[in-house]
Amino acid sequence: MKSFLPSLRAIQMFHPRREQLQDRWSTVGARVLLKARSGHLLARIFSGVLHYGQQPSLTEVLANVHIVTDARAVLSSLRLSVDETDWNQWRVEYCELEKMLDRRYAECASLSAPLNWRIERQTGLLLYALIRRGRPSVVVEAGVANGHSTVIGLSALQANAFGELHSFDISNSVGSLLRDVERARWTLHVYPPWSACTSFRHLVNELGPVDLFFHDSDHSYIGQFADLLSVWPALGPGATVVVDDVNEAWAFFDFAREHHGAAIGLFDSRKLTGVFSTAG
Ligand SMILES: C[S@@+](CC[C@H](N)C(=O)[O-])C[C@H]1O[C@@H](n2cnc3c(N)ncnc32)[C@H](O)[C@@H]1O
Repeated sequence: MKSFLPSLRAIQMFHPRREQLQDRWSTVGARVLLKARSGHLLARIFSGVLHYGQQPSLTEVLANVHIVTDARAVLSSLRLSVDETDWNQWRVEYCELEKMLDRRYAECASLSAPLNWRIERQTGLLLYALIRRGRPSVVVEAGVANGHSTVIGLSALQANAFGELHSFDISNSVGSLLRDVERARWTLHVYPPWSACTSFRHLVNELGPVDLFFHDSDHSYIGQFADLLSVWPALGPGATVVVDDVNEAWAFFDFAREHHGAAIGLFDSRKLTGVFSTAG
């Protein structure tokens, strides 16, 4: 390109219609510039759309979170010390809870949500252990369905004899696995799908400091990111955030990078749960 410049300049200087020519060249130049710029803008919009609509690949997940495969390792990564006797006790309790849940699944003639919507085993154990260890006052859950995670959360609160669970959903017909004995510490907030984001933001910020937030509702980028943004000001010091199905969108990774930093990914058998905690 450089080698053409002197000859272009010579034409500009000595051409009889040089002013006309310069005008035309500047118009062409402006058009080229505009095209390049709009191309760049389109490329940015396009990659943005792709980012919001795409699932991160395994390589990208590995680059963004520290991956572990069991609940105990999550606690260690969060630097939450656990006494061995306590851990064994919680594991026994959790095994009993799983048996009880199996019986309840068998008793239910029909379930309102598919079975594979429930959280996986290690995510359940993580929620149970976080509640037993942290003795939270306020736990928030987004996404109830049949209530697998809800029963786990409420059973841990019941074992602590302390704290309450606020669950949020867009459907009234949720929680078929729950029994009256668990409902004492439970408040279910239901709002219509079209106002889900704003209703969640208003309601969650009326609860007082949230000690544990578990997200398992809208797994789209916008759904996960908006709920994390909404709950962020309500989180108390040392609060833990657990998000199911983070492999479905970039939201958790983007949020953790922008607002927190280090995050952990708990991989069980088919999906990834993201975890981080706020400064204590
Ligand atoms: C994957 S299921 C939850 C499974 C449950 N945590 C369990 O372990 O059994 C998702 C639930 O989120 C609810 N949901 C979907 N979008 C929502 C939203 N924007 N806000 C609140 N709940 C939502 C659905 O109605 C459904 O009950």
